[in-house]
Amino acid sequence: MDGVPTPLRCFRDCHSAEMFVDDGVQTVTSVEQKKVERSIEEVISVYKQMHNLPQPTLLREQHYQYLKKGLRHLSDAYECLDASRPWLCFWILHSLELLEEPIPSAVASDVCQFLARCQSPTGGFAGGPGQHAHLAPTYAAVNALCIIGTEESYNVIDREKLLDFLWSVKQPDGSFVMHVGGEVDVRSAYCAASVASLTNVLTPKLFEDTTNWILRCQNWEGGLSGVPGLEAHGGYTFCGTAALVILGNEHMLDLKALLRWVVSRQMRFEGGFQGRCNKLVDGCYSFWQAGLLPLLHRALFKEGESELSRQQWMLDQRALQEYILLCCQNPTGGLLDKPGKSRDFYHTCYCLSGLSIAQHFGNVDLHHETILGSEENRLAPTHPVYNICPEKVAKALQHFHRLPVPEDRRQPGAPATDRPSDPDAASDTLS
Ligand code: FPP
Ligand code: ZN
Repeated sequence: MDGVPTPLRCFRDCHSAEMFVDDGVQTVTSVEQKKVERSIEEVISVYKQMHNLPQPTLLREQHYQYLKKGLRHLSDAYECLDASRPWLCFWILHSLELLEEPIPSAVASDVCQFLARCQSPTGGFAGGPGQHAHLAPTYAAVNALCIIGTEESYNVIDREKLLDFLWSVKQPDGSFVMHVGGEVDVRSAYCAASVASLTNVLTPKLFEDTTNWILRCQNWEGGLSGVPGLEAHGGYTFCGTAALVILGNEHMLDLKALLRWVVSRQMRFEGGFQGRCNKLVDGCYSFWQAGLLPLLHRALFKEGESELSRQQWMLDQRALQEYILLCCQNPTGGLLDKPGKSRDFYHTCYCLSGLSIAQHFGNVDLHHETILGSEENRLAPTHPVYNICPEKVAKALQHFHRLPVPEDRRQPGAPATDRPSDPDAASDTLS
């Protein structure tokens, strides 16, 4: 590769030392792993044949067109996400803000009106109009409204009822169920802490015992599981860690064990991350796993581990960017899990979020960027706790902190209907 200005990891040596060795024992897992590595080798070899200068390019325009269309029209393939419609708003709007593409004001206003229809009369947001409130779409809707960041979008959120809803899903042991009568896992603690902090309804009472419950999810592997006692997984590890950051208690984790676990999830051949030990690389973990590194960096620094936090940041930023740019882009727009998979808005959002993390974090100087390829590949930075752009976090906090925290007299599991509600407002949101 003589003459190439910035040699790429895969272009240097992608055939030997970094590939998986099964020691002569074939299992379903080892066969799948080798298949993925071969498909990546193939992608790289095709890329090398097609391009003289191996500088991977972000297909900005194609992604922009794919996202723009998705805001107005979704194919039949999205029918299964009928209970996740605020997520589609968030995935698309966040991808657009990372690409620094403005959202036309008419589109922003339509999204606000749609999300208002997803707001439940008992507080929180549902997956679609007329459905029951659930913490996951509540998180997605609040994030989407904060990305829009206008008076109209902030005013959609009924904060008093949001607090009622959060109490209705709070459990006496400090955990949260995802919806009334639903399952407990650490995603819910993150969704609750995220929306409560952004909208200034967070009270110490609401999160009483939550820290202890989350800490019980960190297991012997170093990562966190969905509930205490299960296998560590990147999605849950991100949620638990980010929730503790919001609650100011991340120092209570075993930070070094967590760091060891997460850096071991970056695949040495593929460059992307796996979600858990012995599983396959997937583009979406570029955010759920790599997003942990800025959180850990800050936590270790605060703990006085300046030596550790000064070291080259244990995330191979270039390898991750290479995986996303070479293996996760659909040539007609949108990003995906791994070669051979279809594009979708979830993977588009989290591949781009991970690409942003890999470009902007992981260095001694957090403001220093490491952009693989040309400047054109540069994305806007993302806030590693909320995963929306930092200025949108600041603007939302500024807006909602001007308003008082709603009075908090509630108890875990309290029905969300305690507060007398305005019947007109309820019919407005469901129309
Ligand atoms: C495993 O799927 C996936 C999980 C067990 C949950 C993942 C959780 C998240 C991505 C976090 C969601 C966050 C919020 C805010 C709601 P799998 O077995 O298909 O994948 P794998 O083989 O990669 O583990
Ligand atoms: Zn995925």
